[in-house]
Amino acid sequence: MNSEYSYKNINWFPGHMAKARRLMEEQLKLVDIVIELRDARIPEASGNPLLKELSKNKPVLIILNKADLSDPNKNEIWKDYFDNCLLVDSLNENITKTIVDEVKRILKDKLDKAKARGIRKKVLRAMVVGIPNVGKSTFINNIVKRKVAKAENRPGVTKALQWIKINEDVELLDTPGVLWPKFENQEDARLLALIGSINDEVLNKEELVIFGLNYLKENYKGLISKRYEVDENSDDLIDDIAKKKMWLTNNNKIDYKKTIDLLLKDIRSNKIGRITWQDVRE
Ligand code: G4P
Repeated sequence: MNSEYSYKNINWFPGHMAKARRLMEEQLKLVDIVIELRDARIPEASGNPLLKELSKNKPVLIILNKADLSDPNKNEIWKDYFDNCLLVDSLNENITKTIVDEVKRILKDKLDKAKARGIRKKVLRAMVVGIPNVGKSTFINNIVKRKVAKAENRPGVTKALQWIKINEDVELLDTPGVLWPKFENQEDARLLALIGSINDEVLNKEELVIFGLNYLKENYKGLISKRYEVDENSDDLIDDIAKKKMWLTNNNKIDYKKTIDLLLKDIRSNKIGRITWQDVRE
């Protein structure tokens, strides 16, 4: 793993991280609740352990986004695992009411206290955070029913804070906070790369595909055979797939680079099936 945290679109070098961290800490002070987006296909690896510290233990609503791409059975297990958690498909579902209701449920005590102190209408403030590409902009646009600014992937870029009224009870910060992906261990980095969250160049694509195929053989028996019409237990699985799909060079040899690229694309775009790449640790 590159020790400089280099990531093609964002340079997560320590200076940037420190800046992003300070900015997010400031913004988090202003909210009642943090809405943390994670990718439902890798619920643990797509989180950032520092958030707890940055948010000073504010209530967090975990959104397992892209739940349309992940395994429906494992979705339920992960949802139960986290304290406050919703499964969401930000692309296709109408999520505004679900999110508002959940925010109000989690903050019910706060609302009751405000009421007891004579504040009749307490407006709750929320902020969306998450690693790049997890769907923050899509999620915000869905909730507010219009296009807001694209998530700023360059950390530390400041602009005036704007609150968007979702309804009379809840307001959302219009710009999400970008958390850097977890680079602490190879396992998380590999999962992030597998779903396309961190750049391909960070890890070896061939290793990634081999890891993916092995995981599928172990955890989703039959899916590879079904998709590629090959024996998934073959010792030459990648070659077999390449031949079956005719991923060949001009002189009829297996085009290994193309095969690896296309297999990775299939994995990422769920051509093979709805997969969750992580299990809840006992
Ligand atoms: P970000 O702000 O966190 O960086 O993420 P963004 O909203 O830009 O979303 C990243 C990609 O994930 C987009 O696809 C978006 O359409 C997709 N996406 C977001 N939420 C969901 C979801 O719940 N389900 C599915 N299936 N996809 C989701 P893209 O291909 O990069 O862009 P585009 O072709 O859709 O414009």
